[in-house]
Amino acid sequence: MPEGAQLRVRRETAERVKDAQERNRVWWESLPMTYADFNETDRIPATAAGFREVDRLFLEGNPWLRDAFDFNAFAGKKVLEIGCGSGSASCLLARGGAEVTAIDLISQALALTRKNIETQELAVDVRQMDAEELEFPDESFDYVFSWGVIHHSAETERIIAQIAWVLKPGGAGMCMVYNRDSIRYFLHGLYFLVAKGKIFSGHTLKSVQGLYTDGFYQRHWTGREFSAAFRTAGLEPRRITKTHMAVRIIPHIPRFLDGFLKRHFGWLLVLEFGKRA
Ligand SMILES: C[S@@+](CC[C@H](N)C(=O)[O-])C[C@H]1O[C@@H](n2cnc3c(N)ncnc32)[C@H](O)[C@@H]1O
Repeated sequence: MPEGAQLRVRRETAERVKDAQERNRVWWESLPMTYADFNETDRIPATAAGFREVDRLFLEGNPWLRDAFDFNAFAGKKVLEIGCGSGSASCLLARGGAEVTAIDLISQALALTRKNIETQELAVDVRQMDAEELEFPDESFDYVFSWGVIHHSAETERIIAQIAWVLKPGGAGMCMVYNRDSIRYFLHGLYFLVAKGKIFSGHTLKSVQGLYTDGFYQRHWTGREFSAAFRTAGLEPRRITKTHMAVRIIPHIPRFLDGFLKRHFGWLLVLEFGKRA
């Protein structure tokens, strides 16, 4: 299949669905996150070795998580992972001693996460749930972890409000979404608009992102907007980091320049936040 063909097929299927969140669900249910290329046909791990490979790609593909996030810092704490995908983060948190609850919108993610947990003999409470409508009592968790999820939902702000409710006072969390002030958003977008002529079929810089980005929705945020959304929900933004996936932003540029561009214009926006005690 040519580049992006799977994404296009999934988008067209989801577009036939009327309900906004159902479109999100249909997209992910047909292409669950396994860190395999979205155009590969054999994307679903089935063996313990297959899951170890997904876990390896999860850390290798997300250097900030590998190098700057301490999965062992939550021993004895109640942690909620929103959008667990294949369960790599939940397993790392559980291995570090956290009492983990993992949720995802789609049944495939639950099956993958359960199998991943099983192959590692860990314990995680896995549930199918829409993060826009969390079914937990208020103040249930010490920490909320979400990597690459809430910008794919129909209404990201609804999830942020739910996070504020389920976090205990004094609790904290981290959410990663896509960064609008990024090279990928502008350069890749312009390339598709101008060089590939998508501007002539009515695309804008915003809409063209959907042609080469995962998810039915892929809302890109600036750090300022994202922080403001958390403040509106009564949470306290503490630190914003711009980071990247483990690919060179511009082919063949020197390594130091690549590093500089990623730190300032990387595609991933990580917000760490807290709830006042
Ligand atoms: C890009 S994948 C990320 C998965 C995982 N966090 C990772 O990094 O491998 C996005 C995941 O978010 C889930 N998701 C999207 N919207 C959601 C929602 N409203 N509630 C729960 N999960 C959601 C999707 O089903 C999918 O599994």
